[in-house]
Amino acid sequence: PNKKQRITKSKEVTCSAPVNIAVIKYWGKRNTALLLPTNSSLSLTLNQDDLRSTTTIRASPDFVSDRIWLNGKEENINAKRLSNVLSKAKELRKEMEEKDADLEKLSEWGIYIASYNNFPTAAGLASSASGFACLTFALSQIYDLSINLSQVSMLARLGSGSACRSLFGGFVKWEMGTKDDGSDSLAIQVASETDWPGMEALILVVSDARKDTGSTEGMQLTVETSELLKHRIEKVVPQRMLDMEKAIAEKDFDSFAEITMADSNQFHAVCLDSYPPIFYLNDISKAVIKVITALNARSIHTDPSGKKKGYKVAYTFDAGPNAVLYMQREHLSEVLGVIDYLFPRKSTQKVGEYYGKAKEVLENVDKTNVAKVCDGLGLKQWPKGSLTRIISTSVGDGPRVLSKEYDSEASLLTIDDV
Ligand code: DP6
Repeated sequence: PNKKQRITKSKEVTCSAPVNIAVIKYWGKRNTALLLPTNSSLSLTLNQDDLRSTTTIRASPDFVSDRIWLNGKEENINAKRLSNVLSKAKELRKEMEEKDADLEKLSEWGIYIASYNNFPTAAGLASSASGFACLTFALSQIYDLSINLSQVSMLARLGSGSACRSLFGGFVKWEMGTKDDGSDSLAIQVASETDWPGMEALILVVSDARKDTGSTEGMQLTVETSELLKHRIEKVVPQRMLDMEKAIAEKDFDSFAEITMADSNQFHAVCLDSYPPIFYLNDISKAVIKVITALNARSIHTDPSGKKKGYKVAYTFDAGPNAVLYMQREHLSEVLGVIDYLFPRKSTQKVGEYYGKAKEVLENVDKTNVAKVCDGLGLKQWPKGSLTRIISTSVGDGPRVLSKEYDSEASLLTIDDV
């Protein structure tokens, strides 16, 4: 057939989905095929106006096989986790078709999938979470699956564990569940982005060419070799989940910050407790931890009940050296000013690319005061270019449907693709 010929019958949807960064980390699987975790986790969904995956799915009886393009490059549709997700979604559609003869037999059609991340791989952010969340959300839309978002999150979990938390906006927990079939291991929204407004995130991308141990292999090594992980799973995380949910419900930033930093620290401790040990933090990461600790120490005081108050910012690190800082909007300019003073940009790093939105915030910073504060704390400046870039974003909403029209403006597939 003519390449440009419009296909006779088709259905199409384009969606976008956000990135999430955990404050109680998922690290360890009890079932590696179904991606069932050894502990529950909790994350904040980042604003997809800044960072997102976009996915178009087009279904047609004319497509003889399924195909997928990631960032414009065709990839293997038979990759294990991807094909698990696709066959599960088709199975759910087929069940609906069997119950209702009027439904179009979409489960028998081929699908073309195109997915694109608007953030560079060099940003060091896991693209699998937003990518699989977007794919499963788009599948639920194109197949009109009569399942709720938590059930969609179980599909996303089969692609990548942390992806299940990107099906919701705001503050999201992944309940580890207890069942062997994984039917109770799903994501639930704890609070929306509007329940606790003004939560900002700064991602400090750290220069590092080294290839880290991937999350999948790294966490199994920890499961197999770390004694400390057992303590974490049994004794620490269950209480921490409750405390974190309470902190979020009460918009208690002090408790939020304490738990977030403690959990990041413990995650990296269980990595070090693995054999061979896994190191994700580098010298710049450690310097960021020192800076945040010193900055908080300036304003922390203990109230009569013994609770520490006055935290300004919390750090957290995933399976790599990049820092993610969470803070309330009122402290964004101060934190950014301090970071930019201590980790200055190199002149060869282009201002627009390096700062993005953070540039506007920095314009209102009193640099002389920042220098005084940092010098007063005895914090030394790092060589220019120690960071690769700074991404300023906030907590945002869950997946969006961008279009349900064939070959729409939003579509990542063109008519030429068929
Ligand atoms: C450190 O979800 O990438 O970011 O389930 O094997 O795909 P797989 O792993 P992945 O692990 C994420 C680990 C983490 C912590 C977290 O996001 O909770």
